[in-house]
Amino acid sequence: MTTALAGAPWWQRGVVYQIYPLSFQDGNGDGIGDLAGIRSRLDHLVDLGADAIWLSPIHPSPMHDHGYDVADYEDVHPRFGTLAEFDAFVEAVHGRGLKLVLDLVANHTSHLHPWFVESRSSRDNPKRDWYIWRDPAPGGGPPNNWVSYFGSAWTLDELSGQYYFHQFRAEQPEVNYRNPDVAAAYRDIMRFWLRRGVDGFRADVIALMSKDDRFLDEPDDPAYVATEMAPYFSRIHLYTRDQPAVHEIIRGMRRTLDEFPDRVLIGELDPTEHLMEFYGAGDECHLPFNFKLILEPWDPVVHRRLIDEYDAALPAGAWPNWVIGNHDRDRFVDRFGRRQGRVAQMLVLTLRGTPIYYYGDEIGMPNGAVPPDAWSRIPEIDPPDPKRNRAESPRTPMQWTAGPNAGFCPPGVVPWMPIAAGHETINVEVETRDPTSVLSLVRRLIELRRTSPALAVGAYRSIDPGADGLLAYERRLADDRFLVVLNYLDEPLEVALPGLDGRWTVALSTELDRPDEPADRPLRLRANEGVILRAAPVAT
Ligand code: GLC
Repeated sequence: MTTALAGAPWWQRGVVYQIYPLSFQDGNGDGIGDLAGIRSRLDHLVDLGADAIWLSPIHPSPMHDHGYDVADYEDVHPRFGTLAEFDAFVEAVHGRGLKLVLDLVANHTSHLHPWFVESRSSRDNPKRDWYIWRDPAPGGGPPNNWVSYFGSAWTLDELSGQYYFHQFRAEQPEVNYRNPDVAAAYRDIMRFWLRRGVDGFRADVIALMSKDDRFLDEPDDPAYVATEMAPYFSRIHLYTRDQPAVHEIIRGMRRTLDEFPDRVLIGELDPTEHLMEFYGAGDECHLPFNFKLILEPWDPVVHRRLIDEYDAALPAGAWPNWVIGNHDRDRFVDRFGRRQGRVAQMLVLTLRGTPIYYYGDEIGMPNGAVPPDAWSRIPEIDPPDPKRNRAESPRTPMQWTAGPNAGFCPPGVVPWMPIAAGHETINVEVETRDPTSVLSLVRRLIELRRTSPALAVGAYRSIDPGADGLLAYERRLADDRFLVVLNYLDEPLEVALPGLDGRWTVALSTELDRPDEPADRPLRLRANEGVILRAAPVAT
């Protein structure tokens, strides 16, 4: 069994921890997170039991989209450090036994990237074709009805009289993969970082990388509500997402990655019925993001269905993953309520599949409120767009201590974003001292996962819980067996699970107070409690 664990690649057995570099730790006293800061906090990741860090973009950028608008793929934003500091950072990360995954934003660049500066300089510039340029519609106006998150997906470039295409901000022009030089350029960028020791990439918006070249109008989406949703959702994206050609682009990325041993390709894609296609035939993403737990209601019946369906739909040999938070979504304690917070932790850390874990979730960090004037503190960072980022943000500084600025930056310095309310109790220092805290629970969960092959890489079997409000499943590898039983209700429950005999004991409760208690029949669960039961090995 231990062999099964040792034999699995690191990205299957481990926990991937997302760091939002602006907000993790300020190392130079300017109120903004940076590499030096992250480096000083590596102990926290080791103590937590994380296996890999995924860093949101760290490259030079005008920051119109917090770094998802890259102006130079082969350097580090001066706010975050230098290339030399990055090299030392990789060494420090590896020295702690951790892996490092970078964000690869390869659907668009910044409008300040030299490729785009050249491309827009004239119609016959050699890089013109690196982006998507079209003439105005006959009679004027954008070439077709395609939309971005913010309005039309086309921006007129006065100089040449043509429009360029972007599904995010106008400062994020999209590249044209029909020109093979574009894919080749991104492959070189990947090699640049892989040679520096990076262990893989999280590729941004991969479903969008190819667009149909007939440029036909897209149909309106009847489910669109203009007052609540970004313009992007006003159309059914028949021609701008999930196009067959994206798979060739991803296969190309994967081939490049595979030139280096033991690396990972994680793909970010919005919910799509085509999710499983992004595994390819084992030649595309190792882990195409699974956002189902984020998007669907917090309900055990829904969860059982979606977990079972996801498990059943996985192509042969494909490895699952579960995401419960990221920088684009509300913190899960805000989404599903703090009461269920511990159950959510137990769920994501005991399902079959790599947990992709967002910084701060391990202490139960909430969204922070962001007054509009707080955004002006870094001149180059745009204020949030009200349609996409609300006044509550999941990107506030990590809460390390109960002290000033939560230990994120020195006292007296104004952090780039205000610290979320409640940091006096919700922080790493206080929670480390409290053996019943959320952080203590998460450490125990990850420890159990790391030391139990069945939980890390074993099979999953759905169990009919026989009662409302419950989710139950088995994780098993040979004789190593666990039952996970989660109470989604705010009231106690008694459960008569089939097969629960005297061999089972409580390996962990979300309340951390039932160590090795025999799992009596019926099993009693308190309100909002989850338990992991372990079967004693059968005597031979
Ligand atoms: C992804 C990122 C998001 C960014 C967008 C455009 O969805 O997670 O933050 O705005 O891509 O790059």
